[in-house]
Amino acid sequence: MPLSFSHLISTEQISRTDAELLLQTAASMEEELKQGVSDRLRGKVLASLFYEPSTRTRLSFETAMLRLGGQVVTADGIQFSSMYKGETIEDTIRMAGGYGDIIAMRHPEVGSAARAVTVSPVPFVNAGDGPGEHPTQALLDLYTIQKEFGRTQDLHIAMVGDLKFGRTVHSLSVLLALFPGIRVTLISPSELHMPEHIVSLLREKGVALDSGDSIEAGLHADVIYMTRVQKERFADVAEYERLKLRFILQADHLKGRKAIVMHPLPRVGEISTDIDTLPNAAYFRQAHNGVPMRMGIMALLLGAA
Ligand code: CP
Repeated sequence: MPLSFSHLISTEQISRTDAELLLQTAASMEEELKQGVSDRLRGKVLASLFYEPSTRTRLSFETAMLRLGGQVVTADGIQFSSMYKGETIEDTIRMAGGYGDIIAMRHPEVGSAARAVTVSPVPFVNAGDGPGEHPTQALLDLYTIQKEFGRTQDLHIAMVGDLKFGRTVHSLSVLLALFPGIRVTLISPSELHMPEHIVSLLREKGVALDSGDSIEAGLHADVIYMTRVQKERFADVAEYERLKLRFILQADHLKGRKAIVMHPLPRVGEISTDIDTLPNAAYFRQAHNGVPMRMGIMALLLGAA
């Protein structure tokens, strides 16, 4: 069964049937990984275009393609590409689509992914468009929740930190809204509230929404989803410094609690390292789930799942 889309820009494209197919495919890819490298995508090439810094997304996309038996060509940093000379996103994608069979692109501008798919001759995947969306992160987050709880419904998720610029919480909120019984608690400084269009969408889909201005408001959730305040999105560094560590989760907060702690990473102080050894700490498991989920996404988009 194919996905209902041929390019992935936003979680708003993903139906519940798509989400369930992606979860099942990631699980079967995780089983395949235990057998070593597969040959599902032998002969295929991923064009991996990262015009904004990345560790996890880039490495896990590239690992996923290599584990599927394919190969990778890369471009990183606008200053090292012809975008520096003024080449448009559209022309870059036309070129990359002539070299690779699938493209993953991270770019600092919101809307860059939507522009890319207007010309992409091959499946295109948004690997993060500025403070816009990060749909593959949301899918690996959903996969992590499925693995940790055995379900993706009837769950309470507290989202904490920079909900304005944090693209992962935008994409994850929309994805969670596909499932019944979801409650979301939004905890952020007033300057970094979740964008209104996401809040409206959650309300329309029947998600139970509340908000708080202290970390304590989220401690009784099933998932405490921490985020980094996104320094690179601030025009005023002093404003970033004022807000950056408003919410810090510490081991004491989790005493006697079963909540899992997730974070898209990197963290820059908002999760105390004394949590790392607790069973609650799911963030490194979460990051590792990026490989099977991105294997599944690419295999499905290339008709090889
Ligand atoms: N979660 C995430 O997008 O991490 P990177 O920025 O390291 O890719």
